[in-house]
Amino acid sequence: MTFPVTRNRRLRNSASMRSLVRETILTANDFIAPIYIVPGTGIKHEIRSMPGVFHFSLDTVEQELSELVSAGIRSVLVFGVPDSKDAVGSSAYAEDGIVQQGIRRIKQLYPELIVIADTCLCQFTDHGHCGVVHHTADGPVIDNDDSLALLARTAVSQAKAGADIIAPSNMMDGFVAAIRAGLDEAGLSHVPIMSYAVKYSSAYYGPFREAAHSAPQFGDRKTYQMDPANVREALREAQADVDEGADFLMVKPGLAYLDVLRLLKDRFDLPIAVYNVSGEYAMVKAAALQGWIDERAIVLETLTGMKRAGADMIITYHAKDAARWLNEKG
Ligand code: PBG
Ligand code: ZN
Repeated sequence: MTFPVTRNRRLRNSASMRSLVRETILTANDFIAPIYIVPGTGIKHEIRSMPGVFHFSLDTVEQELSELVSAGIRSVLVFGVPDSKDAVGSSAYAEDGIVQQGIRRIKQLYPELIVIADTCLCQFTDHGHCGVVHHTADGPVIDNDDSLALLARTAVSQAKAGADIIAPSNMMDGFVAAIRAGLDEAGLSHVPIMSYAVKYSSAYYGPFREAAHSAPQFGDRKTYQMDPANVREALREAQADVDEGADFLMVKPGLAYLDVLRLLKDRFDLPIAVYNVSGEYAMVKAAALQGWIDERAIVLETLTGMKRAGADMIITYHAKDAARWLNEKG
């Protein structure tokens, strides 16, 4: 009878031993909480496909922020749902646009909180695309270069409103360079860019598009967002953004793309964010509400997996709950 020479179980003998050898420690500081701001007053409206996530108006957002801050969350990602849309997304770069007002409000209430602005046009265009649409004989096309000036303008207006970080999610070519130049020319060279560098064309954004009223009115986003089948292309996307002056790189979605996250972490020296997107959240919540899974354990395991795969920070709708659970654990 031979016995195992290697006994890996020795290091799993007790909770203290497991804690001693634990490689990945999740903290509230790892999380970025998305926040949706809408016009009006007295609004706290739950998003149907994202239980526990709400639309807030400028007056009701304070309560949510105070809960996030007491849970230990130190940064938020701001989205806005405007009351008017047009072909060129004017409400994205209006000085008193809903996002700009939201940023000012949050910074006024919590100056220490890092406010990240999602920079895109899709919530603000009537056609729902992330860039300018031109109608040609061959049908509509998303015009890359015409979109850049509007994206830069949006970023500048968000930074002027007080955004600490600009996070462009539009996937046009050259968006980082265009936004960097726009910010620099406006005297905002101190404002960093968190690029949605590797953003896949994903069905996991479904609940977000419902929440942000940003579904494309025709076609899809496949001419600008990446094909889920590709990983070497992700390296080219990331490299371009590094060359154009990005300060952070992001991989989005998370769960189905952890290999991409690991690869970027190993190749690039910039801080790397992962976006645990709306569809990933919706799946967990749906199963949890049915009583089919242990929500707390599943969420902490998922977020640990993302950090282990290389995320320096995680944008997640679970942020407040996860931070509270981690605090309870002590
Ligand atoms: C806007 C944007 C999207 C998300 C973040 N910014 C949607 C999209 O590109 O269709 C998705 C976020 C989520 O699903 O949680 N471009
Ligand atoms: Zn968009």
